[in-house]
Amino acid sequence: MKHLIDIIDLSVEEIDELIAVGEDIIAHPADYEEKCRHKKLATLFFEPSTRTRLSFESAMLSLGGDVLGFSEASSSSAAKGESVADTIQTVGCYADIIAMRHPKEGAPVVAVRRSTVPVINAGDGGHNHPTQTLTDLLTIHRELGRLDNMVVGLCGDLKFGRTVHSLIIAMCRYSRVKFVLISPEELRLPEYLREMLDKQGIDYLETQDLEAAMPELDILYMTRVQRERFFNEADYVRLKDSYILTPDKLVNAKESLRILHPLPRVNEISVAVDDDPRAAYFRQVANGKFIRMALILKLLEVK
Ligand code: NCD
Repeated sequence: MKHLIDIIDLSVEEIDELIAVGEDIIAHPADYEEKCRHKKLATLFFEPSTRTRLSFESAMLSLGGDVLGFSEASSSSAAKGESVADTIQTVGCYADIIAMRHPKEGAPVVAVRRSTVPVINAGDGGHNHPTQTLTDLLTIHRELGRLDNMVVGLCGDLKFGRTVHSLIIAMCRYSRVKFVLISPEELRLPEYLREMLDKQGIDYLETQDLEAAMPELDILYMTRVQRERFFNEADYVRLKDSYILTPDKLVNAKESLRILHPLPRVNEISVAVDDDPRAAYFRQVANGKFIRMALILKLLEVK
């Protein structure tokens, strides 16, 4: 039985295969309508979510399956003090596959030890978010036609942004990818990830200057400053508007640039950017459902 806890659980070949299935689902949705008939997905969300939970549920419904679950810890027995491991063991009696989101880093690792069904990490604290990464990779592939040979700028909260962490881990396995890490000093990429890049000899640059970096970027991945991970509100207030992407900042960007954001956005992309053809973040939202369909099929071993 296979789980997806960390993006590194998937080989490059498996990621490429998921992207190919995602593309096929987009092209031929009717072929997939009955694939998960009588299968159940449980979504266990101990933390807020709009896109991740609803795209998982929509994915399973589009495969002909059913969904159950909870969208806040307060409506589950977690509020009574039940452990994650006990909750997972319980839900395994009612569902064939589980997608869970939890505020504690590493919670899904504990969960899988007692799970009788595949578990998907839908985000654990400020650590990882592998299914957002699959969404991002499908989007980059559809927009640029490749996953190698590009300059990827990541901007905003690189410290707490779990989607950034998983995306870097995934993309540094493709050849000739350079990262430009754009953040305030206090929100730099964590040291363990910088060490990983150093060890693997990956080309990267750290800067605070988004506009200076802009002309060389093929992908600009904007992120929200993660308010819920800060220890004090004053730091959040000081840092929250560090970067605000507006149309004038894109004048020196490539025509082929694509702007991604895992969403939700707060202030970091002005709505005036939404009509720019380079703004791919709502196409990215749509891709999230298709790649999760591909992932559910893989983990349930449905042909
Ligand atoms: C992200 C998350 O939850 O980490 N959202 C998402 O899943 N699309 C990004 C965020 O909350 O800023």
